[in-house]
Amino acid sequence: MKKLENKVAVVTGASKGIGAGIAKSLASAGAAVVVNYASDKNGADKVVAEITAEGGKAIAVQGSVAKKADVDRLFAETKEAFGGVDVLVNNAGVYQFTPIEVVTEEEFHRQFDINVLGLLLATQGAVNSFGDKGGSIINISSTVTRITPPQSAIYTGTKGAVDSITQVLSKELGPKKIRVNAINPGMVETEGTHTAGFIGSDFQAELEKTTPLGRIGQPDDIAPVAVFLASDDSRWLTGEIILASGGVR
Ligand SMILES: NC(=O)c1ccc[n+]([C@@H]2O[C@H](COP(=O)([O-])OP(=O)(O)OC[C@H]3O[C@@H](n4cnc5c(N)ncnc54)[C@H](OP(=O)(O)O)[C@@H]3O)[C@@H](O)[C@H]2O)c1
Repeated sequence: MKKLENKVAVVTGASKGIGAGIAKSLASAGAAVVVNYASDKNGADKVVAEITAEGGKAIAVQGSVAKKADVDRLFAETKEAFGGVDVLVNNAGVYQFTPIEVVTEEEFHRQFDINVLGLLLATQGAVNSFGDKGGSIINISSTVTRITPPQSAIYTGTKGAVDSITQVLSKELGPKKIRVNAINPGMVETEGTHTAGFIGSDFQAELEKTTPLGRIGQPDDIAPVAVFLASDDSRWLTGEIILASGGVR
């Protein structure tokens, strides 16, 4: 029997990047997967097609994690398709580095609404859907909370909140058999890091110099850690912040 047989997983922001990699790996391990996306329907449909071509189960559900009505619909559609939910991966996230002199209210709210409020709303939806059997929540934070790069006050602020929320909720939800852990990746090559100009930048070169394993990550470096945290193999872990960064800390 596969590790995640009979489990249902919701992965937010799974139309590309780290989320797509995690959705495909959870499905390979036997889970039925809900591929959430905000705007990239083609990307989400492609992830679903790759999973079903391998004999797995998946559906795509559009919805912004920053909007409660969308999140409620995400969990209602999950229940309708697969009967319940066992695993939530809070992966949806946005990032932009900005010097403090040009920080705007709009950019603050964009990043905090998706990365923090969105994570809280999706968590609330999952907690209300898990039922008596409990579940596993996996928050995708970032190694920026350790390396605190210049010009990242907003983004690092959002992920600092994610680290703290992970630890608070692990205590709050433990009695409900809900485990809450975080994976904090170092730089990973994704559509997002290409668009943000990180790939090929001096920042990447600097990071690689200080990374014990000497390179940046790929989504496939992160996904097995999510499979582990989703599975019973990690049944005694909650409130953990796991750096998945080639040794950057
Ligand atoms: N890549 C890295 O170096 C790195 C390092 C550490 C941590 N992280 C974290 O890992 C996560 C994924 O990063 P990535 O690099 O894979 O990003 P990415 O390639 O830009 O993909 C982001 C995903 O999030 C979705 N998304 C954006 N806003 C959303 C919203 N309001 N509601 C639902 N989904 C939304 C996007 O959906 P659409 O495209 O459909 O709109 C897309 O599927 C983020 O939380 C990020 O902070 C990334």
